[in-house]
Amino acid sequence: MLNKIQELKDAIEALQVSSIEEIEAARIKYLSKKGEISLLFNDFRTVPNELKREIGQKLNELKTLATDKINSLKASFEDSSDASAGLDLTRTSAPYTIGTRHPLSLVKEEIISIFSRLGYTIAEGPEVEDDWHVFSSLNFAADHPARDMQDTFFIQRNPDILLRTHTSSVQSRVMEHTQPPIRIICPGRVYRNEAISYRAHCFFHQVEGLYVDKGVTFADLKQSLLYFAREMFGPDTKMRLRPSYFPFTEPSAEMDISCDLCGGKGCNFCKHTGWVEILGCGMVDPNVLDACGIDSKVYSGFAFGMGIERIANLKFRVKDLRMFSENDVRFLEEFKSVH
Ligand code: PHE
Repeated sequence: MLNKIQELKDAIEALQVSSIEEIEAARIKYLSKKGEISLLFNDFRTVPNELKREIGQKLNELKTLATDKINSLKASFEDSSDASAGLDLTRTSAPYTIGTRHPLSLVKEEIISIFSRLGYTIAEGPEVEDDWHVFSSLNFAADHPARDMQDTFFIQRNPDILLRTHTSSVQSRVMEHTQPPIRIICPGRVYRNEAISYRAHCFFHQVEGLYVDKGVTFADLKQSLLYFAREMFGPDTKMRLRPSYFPFTEPSAEMDISCDLCGGKGCNFCKHTGWVEILGCGMVDPNVLDACGIDSKVYSGFAFGMGIERIANLKFRVKDLRMFSENDVRFLEEFKSVH
């Protein structure tokens, strides 16, 4: 009898239920007239007199335990409203994992923030463009190779409607309807008909900049870009400009910064030159100003353009450009701690 009492006590203590019906079943099992505890009370008559006191006490305790347990289980179910019936208090308080910002967005925001400190505002334009804004207004000769089908995606074989190959098109749009001073940066996606590989894609992202006013010189260009490079890559960053060619700027240059991996000593990343290229730039060609309705005898300006993937690559050393557009969560989560 004592064993049986102990057994029931353990079972009742461990009792767990997930519905009102289960509580009722437990009540019937233990406490109803034919329940296990009632049966023990029936058997009590057969207990020898000398044990009656001890066993009687244990039996009463068991009955109280069972009654209390069932009452408290009932109360807990009645308290909880429908909405919290399935409430699981063991779950974490923040069940949703927070997403990450895309590395290209992080870098774009940083570029924008640096130039906004120099007074630049953002200008945006369409990705599907016409020939005038992408090429003709920017001094591309009619037979310039960049218009070739190799580089440009045309829409429905119409040579006039195309996907912009650079965001310089936004600059020509702004110049068309704004008189200087103009100080804008143009972030956006651009398209080029290139075979996709680890270092080229058929679309990528740019931030281009334009500053037009009276008396803007190459020295302004150089100082602005040096400020950008040092804000972006650290105060010890050095820059150099190499002569280059773009139809819309004269003179034109490509800008390199000292390789921050080897500190300019030369390594695999910078192909042992100590320098890495970051952008193209130059003084806006007077033909471009005039084509866009700005008097090139009064005003001058500079422009620059950089690939966001390129800058992101320098900051984060992403070896394969395709990672940026594959949306692999494992890759994206690596940027959780940035900003
Ligand atoms: N538009 C050029 C490109 O896409 C970059 C550039 C912009 C160069 C402005 C000079 C001045 O490569």
